[in-house]
Amino acid sequence: MKHRIPLAKPEILQQDRDAVLEVLNTSQLSMGARLANFEEAICAYTGSKFAVAVNSGTSALHLCLRVLALPENSEVILPSFTFAAPLNVLLQEKLHPVFAEIDPVTLNVTAETIAAAFTPRTKALIAVHTFGRPLDMQSIRELAQERNILVVEDACEALGAKVHNQMAGTFGEVGALAFYPNKQITTGEGGIFLTSNTQLAERARRLRNQGRDPSFGALQHVEAGYSYRLSDINCALGLSQLRRLEETLQRRHSIARLYDEKLACIPQIARPPLTSPYGRISCFAYVVQLAPPLGADCRDWICNAMERHSIGTGKYFAPLHLQPVLKNSVRPQLPVTESAANRVIALPFFNQITDAEMEEVCAALAASLAGFTAGFSRRKQ
Ligand SMILES: Cc1ncc(COP(=O)(O)O)c(C=O)c1O
Repeated sequence: MKHRIPLAKPEILQQDRDAVLEVLNTSQLSMGARLANFEEAICAYTGSKFAVAVNSGTSALHLCLRVLALPENSEVILPSFTFAAPLNVLLQEKLHPVFAEIDPVTLNVTAETIAAAFTPRTKALIAVHTFGRPLDMQSIRELAQERNILVVEDACEALGAKVHNQMAGTFGEVGALAFYPNKQITTGEGGIFLTSNTQLAERARRLRNQGRDPSFGALQHVEAGYSYRLSDINCALGLSQLRRLEETLQRRHSIARLYDEKLACIPQIARPPLTSPYGRISCFAYVVQLAPPLGADCRDWICNAMERHSIGTGKYFAPLHLQPVLKNSVRPQLPVTESAANRVIALPFFNQITDAEMEEVCAALAASLAGFTAGFSRRKQ
């Protein structure tokens, strides 16, 4: 359903339209110059040695796991409090997910929670910078080296986040970025595989296009590959958006700051920290938590009330370990994840949100929360 104040909205300016139209006026809509330009621009921006653009963040993440070629049934550590993609690619690659607990404030995994999930069968970890908040990659990398496991960095929500001075996505053996329309920049659909390893980059490039090796003839495919290409139309949009990414990140940060100020007077709402000791946050979403003992009933009440005002909200994330796809697996104990998941509310967050819209969101949130607590005290009498 289309909301008057949506949860997310891409920012498409005239220069984006012009860039797309320029490609449409050529005869090369795929595997052309814009693809190469987009990959080069991402390398220049992130400092990654190689970038392979694909048709989604999930495809990028899939290539990450595929090129690492872990033995079947190897354990891979990931957060449960995240989007479905990391779990899906593990299951598709016949790898065994082991969930790490999160920190209750940052909603991110830590080196400690990852260490607690480690077993002798662990072969890799997927480090997800949830909501664009940088993880302590230094400690996570040290831990991975100590335990001799590989690091996949899921920076799909974190384009432009920095860990100290290095860009998120460039810390692991392999990494992924994503460009769905709710992201910091969009290509419509799209993602990118990052690595500094020549062999892994070559393999990802080959797998993206039917397993064809560019050094052989066009119809020589050397392994079973995928159709994960990203068109030049998407790349042109991405290139255009990338040019103003730094400005976009500043704007998103100032929106987060405004929300922070407007919500400071509601004690039952815990606001996300706006800084990180590990580096620069790249604001992907603005996610508040209800303070306990408020829980899922209050959260659902608020989201329904906001819906009636045609204001979009999100309940990110539903824990992965509770998903029906894992119903036959042993259920891990993740009390922090489960508690947070019941209390999170993502508020409308996009570049062009106005001050008046934010005001309205905060007023609707405060009013519905007050409505719930008044009803609750009446029900108790
Ligand atoms: C953490 C994370 N990983 C992977 C993805 C996958 O990206 P896509 O939707 O482009 O497939 C997303 C998308 O939002 C994500 O949030």
